[in-house]
Amino acid sequence: MKIVNGFDLMKFAQSHGLLLPAFNTTNMEMTYAIVKGLNQANLPGYVQISSNNLRLSNPAAIAYLTADAMRNSDVPVALHLDHGKSYEDVKACVDAGFTSIMIDASSLPFEENIKEVRRATEYCHFYGIPVEAELGALRGKEEDIVNEADCKTDPGMVADFVERTGCDLLAVSVGNVHGLDIQPKVDLPLLEEISKVSPVPLVMHGGSGIPFETVQQARKYNLIKINYGSDLRRAFVSTFGRTYEKNHNHASVIELSIEAVDNVAAKVAELVKVINA
Ligand code: G3H
Ligand code: ZN
Repeated sequence: MKIVNGFDLMKFAQSHGLLLPAFNTTNMEMTYAIVKGLNQANLPGYVQISSNNLRLSNPAAIAYLTADAMRNSDVPVALHLDHGKSYEDVKACVDAGFTSIMIDASSLPFEENIKEVRRATEYCHFYGIPVEAELGALRGKEEDIVNEADCKTDPGMVADFVERTGCDLLAVSVGNVHGLDIQPKVDLPLLEEISKVSPVPLVMHGGSGIPFETVQQARKYNLIKINYGSDLRRAFVSTFGRTYEKNHNHASVIELSIEAVDNVAAKVAELVKVINA
């Protein structure tokens, strides 16, 4: 299969009653592992990379690796820019072949957020690519970026925001957090309230650490995508850490990298199955 368009993936998920996991990659091994794990589970999802993680590589490299992994895929997978930090990043990813985009201007004041998202949406919709935006701000740690602001999504601002930005998915802040250092406390009544006023499906960031029962409850409120980053990074890093602890002379990077791919793929398969149980 080729990398699928984000709109097509969303339609597939909605017609099959599926919740789409979006797994953060950083490098070749994690990219291969995500596609491998989705195929092991025979369920669809996203490969995604944040603007921050593109410091190590570039959009074309990640698009190439994802397309390469997709040559053996039997399940639909879209390639998503997560937490896109600039219009330039959005354009570079669309031009490189990404099929779904987030422009994250949630740290800006409301009107600025709208302006930034609107601009990115116009560009992406020209190429038939869906745009995710964020209203409210999540606390926590996204790789090495720490955000203390904990600003829940205001349901009273949702319809106006979606209408004026033209975004196709809305990332919400309802007590979910980034990273593993803070315990998420998902406010399901608030999520329900937002789902009633949002014209577009919702996205839950900070999937790692959210109890699966909570995810099952949240699915009732037009949740279409849930992001997982830390759980996968931990599966990757611990593969190397465990081995090094046991034997400081172990230096077979190829062996460890293959083992890390298997461990991350197993985590991907586990997560995509349990959130769609
Ligand atoms: O955008 C990425 C996700 O929100 C990652 O969150 O590391 O808590 O799973 P997580
Ligand atoms: Zn996130």
